[in-house]
Amino acid sequence: MGSEDRWQEGDPVSLVAAREPVRVVRLARGPVRVGDDTVLDLTDLIGRPVGGAIQVLGTAFHAVRPSLADWLSTLRRGAQIVTVKDAMQIVRLAGVAPGGRVAEAGAGTGALTLVLASAVGPMGRIVSCDRRPDFLENARANLARAGWEDRVEFRLRDVARDGWGEGTFSSVVLDLPEPWEVLAASFTSVEVGGYVATYTPTYNQLERTVRRMRELGWADVTAVELLERGLHVGEGGTRPEFEMLGHTGFLASARRVG
Ligand SMILES: C[S@@+](CC[C@H](N)C(=O)[O-])C[C@H]1O[C@@H](n2cnc3c(N)ncnc32)[C@H](O)[C@@H]1O
Repeated sequence: MGSEDRWQEGDPVSLVAAREPVRVVRLARGPVRVGDDTVLDLTDLIGRPVGGAIQVLGTAFHAVRPSLADWLSTLRRGAQIVTVKDAMQIVRLAGVAPGGRVAEAGAGTGALTLVLASAVGPMGRIVSCDRRPDFLENARANLARAGWEDRVEFRLRDVARDGWGEGTFSSVVLDLPEPWEVLAASFTSVEVGGYVATYTPTYNQLERTVRRMRELGWADVTAVELLERGLHVGEGGTRPEFEMLGHTGFLASARRVG
């Protein structure tokens, strides 16, 4: 039998309860601030087994180690973030795998950066670029909260004007308004066999992106949109939810084969 997993001072903790948004806190002795208006004292957790229940603000929470979904739902927002369903599909379309080396722009809030850092794992590397220093700092702080900052190199860079800079990559991921401006630089920075994936909110942007991919000789050009419909599950009354998110963005991908 392995030794029991116990909480230590400094650990990140997710507090999970029915009908409550998840809260992620750093375990410390004494009161800690959570969000803008809540202060919690979790000192009693230190030394206790992971997964136990704790009374916080009159509610029974379970204290567990944070998941990727917990980190994404508690991000400090800067730019508009990619939705989780699209981020996961970008991982597939861009061929991102453990140990991968991924170039990404723009960093924005760092939501996609978190998903990519999770997908490449501890042996992988992300180069995340943005032309706005304030967004880059916020994204860096969000990665540091999750403890994955050592997987990411942040570069203050206008990639449409200056390209990616040093390095070659197994994948390139573009979530910025004019991805077609970065496709030529991406073609030379991605290895043969590597992929590019783009995320754009309008058909016009998608058309320009795919046209440029074809002009530059990218292979296997594909485009897709994902619609996610939640299901209400009740015994004898299971049906689709009445409301759904009707539009997020369009995904395009291509591969360098020569
Ligand atoms: C929609 S946000 C990216 C959101 C990010 N993927 C996330 O999930 O948090 C677009 C970002 O692209 C950046 N950007 C736009 N044009 C750029 C360029 N030419 N070079 C670098 N960054 C750029 C913007 O500053 C902004 O932060």
